[in-house]
Amino acid sequence: MKGAKITAIGSYVPVSRLTNSDLEQLVDTNDEWIVQRTGIRERRISREDEYTSDLCIAAVRNLLTRYGKSAADIDMVLVATSTADFSFPSVASIIQHRLGIPLTVGAFDVSAACAGFVYALHTAHAYVASGLHRKVLVVGADALSKITDYTDRSTCILFGDGAGAVLVETDEQQDRFLGYHLGSDGGGAHHVYRTGLSHTVNGVELGGSGKLVQNGREVFKWAVRTVPQGVQRVLDNAGATLEQVDWFIPHSANLRMIEPVCERLNYPLSQALYSLEYFGNTSAASIPLALDLGIREGKVHSGQRVLLYGFGAGLAHAGVLTEL
Ligand code: ACO
Repeated sequence: MKGAKITAIGSYVPVSRLTNSDLEQLVDTNDEWIVQRTGIRERRISREDEYTSDLCIAAVRNLLTRYGKSAADIDMVLVATSTADFSFPSVASIIQHRLGIPLTVGAFDVSAACAGFVYALHTAHAYVASGLHRKVLVVGADALSKITDYTDRSTCILFGDGAGAVLVETDEQQDRFLGYHLGSDGGGAHHVYRTGLSHTVNGVELGGSGKLVQNGREVFKWAVRTVPQGVQRVLDNAGATLEQVDWFIPHSANLRMIEPVCERLNYPLSQALYSLEYFGNTSAASIPLALDLGIREGKVHSGQRVLLYGFGAGLAHAGVLTEL
C-alpha cells in the first residue's frame, strides 16, 4: 500500500454578498437573532448565470495558480455537490472538459450533501493509497442559493454559495491519512431534503416544490449527538487522541452547533475552524473553505493534523484525520 497526501488547495466564493440586514428586507428576522442563533453575518450568492461547475472551475484555477500545479496529469475527478448544474451529466464531467483534463480520466459526482467533501476525500485517499490513481482532484461545491426558499426565514438565513478544491497525490514516504469514520441514517431522510422524482420518504409526504426544506431542530439535535461520537471513532481508527489534533474542522452549519460539539469533546473552540461567519452554510464547500481560510490566515501549517467532519442530509456523516 502506498501513501497519500493533500498537496494543494484552492477556493472560490461569488462576489455578491447577502448580509443579515439584506435578509431583514426579505423576511421577518433581524441581525441580532441570526448572529446569536447561528454566528452567520453574511453569505456569498452566485450570479443568476453562475452555476456549481463555474464555482468549481474558479476554485480549481485558484489551486493551480497558487501551487503551480498542472491539471494535465490529474487522473481522477471527484465533485461533491447537491446542487449540480444538471441531474446529469455530472459536474465532474463538465469541469473535466473545461479544465482540459485528458479524456482517459474518470469523473463523477459524490452525493452526500454537507458530508460530501469528506466522503469524496475519503474516496480519493482509497484510490491513491491503493495505487490505482496518483493525482485525484476533489472539489466540494454548492450553489445552495439556487434552491433556497427566500420566504422561509428558518432556512434562508443559513445558506450561501462557494467551492473548495484539493489535490490528493501519492506520497512515497508515508500515508498522511491517519483515520476515518463514515455513517448514515436514512431514517432521518425527511429531516432535510429537496424533492426529486419522489415526494415521499419514511412514510412522510414531502413539500417544498424543489426548494430545500429542513426541520432545523431535528438536524441540530442529531448532529450534536452524532458528531462527537464520530470524531471519537476517527481517533480510535487512527490510534490518536484529541490532544494530537491541531485543528478541528466540522461542517460550518451553525456556530451554535459547533460549540456544544466542542464542549462534549472537551476540545477548545479556539482550535475549531469554520467558514460560516462570512460565507454561511455552503454545504459541501464549507470544510475546504474553512481549511483554506485557516491556511491563508497563517494558522494552519504543513505537518499539522486536521480532523475534518462533515454531516447533513442523509442523514450522512463522515470524518477524516489527516496530516498536512
Ligand atoms: N429570525 C427570527 N426568528 C426566527 C427565525 C429567523 N430567521 N427563524 C426561526 N425563528 C423563530 C421561530 O419561528 C421560533 O419562534 P417561536 O418560538 O415563536 O415559534 C423561534 O425562532 C425558535 O425557532 P427554532 O427553529 O426552534 O430555532 P433554533 O434555535 O432551532 O434555530 C436553526 C433554528 C438556526 C435553523 C437551527 O435549528 C439550525 O441551525 N439547525 C441545523 C440546520 C442544519 O445544520 N442543517 C444542515 C443541513 S443542510 C444540508 O445538508 C444541505
